[in-house]
Amino acid sequence: MKITGKTKVIGIIGWPVSHSLSPVMHNAAFEYLGLDFCYVPFAVREGSIDVVLRAIPALNIVGLNVTVPHKEHVLPFLSEVSKEAAMMGAVNTIKVVEDRLIGYNTDGIGFISAVEEAGHPVKGLSLLILGAGGAAKAVVFAAAGKGAKEITIANRTFAKAKSLKEQTEKYFHPVKIEAIGMGCDELKNIAGKIDMIINTTSLGLKRGDPSPIPKEFLHKGLFICDLIYNPPETELIRDAKDSGINHMNGMGMLLHQGGAAFKLWTDTEPPIEVMRKALEETLMSDE
Ligand code: ATR
Repeated sequence: MKITGKTKVIGIIGWPVSHSLSPVMHNAAFEYLGLDFCYVPFAVREGSIDVVLRAIPALNIVGLNVTVPHKEHVLPFLSEVSKEAAMMGAVNTIKVVEDRLIGYNTDGIGFISAVEEAGHPVKGLSLLILGAGGAAKAVVFAAAGKGAKEITIANRTFAKAKSLKEQTEKYFHPVKIEAIGMGCDELKNIAGKIDMIINTTSLGLKRGDPSPIPKEFLHKGLFICDLIYNPPETELIRDAKDSGINHMNGMGMLLHQGGAAFKLWTDTEPPIEVMRKALEETLMSDE
C-alpha cells in the first residue's frame, strides 16, 4: 500500500482498539480494488470523544468505525443518524460528508447477511438470544425487522433482558418477544421450541469459559450462532459440532458489518472474499 498526500483516511475509534481486525480487513479491500484509502486504529479513551469527533472533519478524515465503549457516546456529536442507528441508540460507522458527521449502524445488517450466507434466514423462526448487551440489541432489532416469528432474550441479569424486550416491542410490536433469566430451568423450558440460538454474551471469549447453555438442551434441528470469533471455536461451537448441529461463529457478522461500512464510505461494492481471507489469515496467525 502506497500512502500519498491524496490518500483518504478512515479510522476506528475504541478503547482498547489494538486487537481490532478491521484495519486488516479494510486495508486488504482498498489494496485489492486499488482505492486510495487507508484504515488506521485510534485508541481513544472514554473521556476524549468530544475532542476527537470535533477534529475528524478538520483532519479531513472521511470515515470512522466506532467500537466499545463509544458506540452510544458519539450520538450527540453527529449531524444526522440513520433510522437503525437512531432506533438502537448506537453507531458503529460514521461517514463524513462536507464536514458533517453522519452515523449508521451496520451491526444488524452484518448479522442478517451472515446468517443468510450460512443458509439460515431468520424470517418465520423462533430465536433464543443469550445476552442483553449492545451486541444482543443489534441482533434482536435486526431479527425483529427481518420477520423472526418469536424472540426470547435470556440474560444473567433479568432486568436487562426485560428492558431490551420493552425497547424492541416499541418498534416491532407484531413480533412476539419474551425475556427470561439464564437459569437452567428457564433455558430448558425454551430450548426445545426454538430454531436458532445466538450467543451474544462474552462467555467464550476466554479459553476455558463454559458454554452459556448446557449441551443436553441442544437439539438437532437448531442453528447455533456464536458471535465470538476469537477464539474461533468456543465451548458452545464445540458442543454444536459434537452433536452434529449446524453452526457458525461471529466472523461472518464481523465481515459483513465491515462490508456494509466499506460501501458507505467508498460507494463501491466490498470485495467480500478478499476481506474474509484477510480476517481468516489474521485469526489463524493469532492461534
Ligand atoms: P456487548 O457490547 O459485546 O454486547 P455488553 O454490552 O457488555 O457487551 O454485554 C455483555 C453481555 O454478556 C451481557 O448480556 C452480560 O450479562 P449481564 O447483563 O448479566 O452482565 C453477558 N455476560 C457477561 N459475562 C457473563 C457470564 N459470565 N455469564 C453470563 N452472561 C455474561
